[in-house]
Amino acid sequence: MSLENCSIIDFPVIHDPRGNLTFIEGDNHIPFEIARVYYLYDVPGGAQRGGHAHRELSQLIIAMSGSFDVHLDDGAEKRTFHLNRSYYGLHVCPMIWREIDNFSSGSVCLVLASHRYDESDYFRDHGEFRSAVKEGQGDLLS
Ligand code: TYD
Repeated sequence: MSLENCSIIDFPVIHDPRGNLTFIEGDNHIPFEIARVYYLYDVPGGAQRGGHAHRELSQLIIAMSGSFDVHLDDGAEKRTFHLNRSYYGLHVCPMIWREIDNFSSGSVCLVLASHRYDESDYFRDHGEFRSAVKEGQGDLLS
């Protein structure tokens, strides 16, 4: 998996003078079934979240309110996405290191996830993550 597999996905918007509406269907608007939803809120100024990668998990990250930066790293390349609207999200595929920072005051980060919480799916050490990426590349070459 590489950064090329991670991209912004635009969701449908039903414009209405009473207020806009957006909806997301698993395996339709996003490329996986939704097994879990979680959100970050009351994030203090200057805080950083993430700092890990996942073996199997795919995620869709949305700035439900406010804004923040998502830094992605596939072990070879890095890219930063600034999220600030609730009608699009960032698809983060497995084996991508992510860090989230620059949260605006009152922001809410919503995450749709392909699997339930499983600590054994995490790489929490960047060195271990990089080694696993290199091993994966070795598998592909052999
Ligand atoms: P973590 O995934 O490290 O948070 P973030 O990536 O947003 O910085 O999770 C922080 C803590 O919350 C950790 O102890 C695991 C726990 N947790 C759950 O119990 N269930 C969940 O669905 C998530 C995402 C985290």
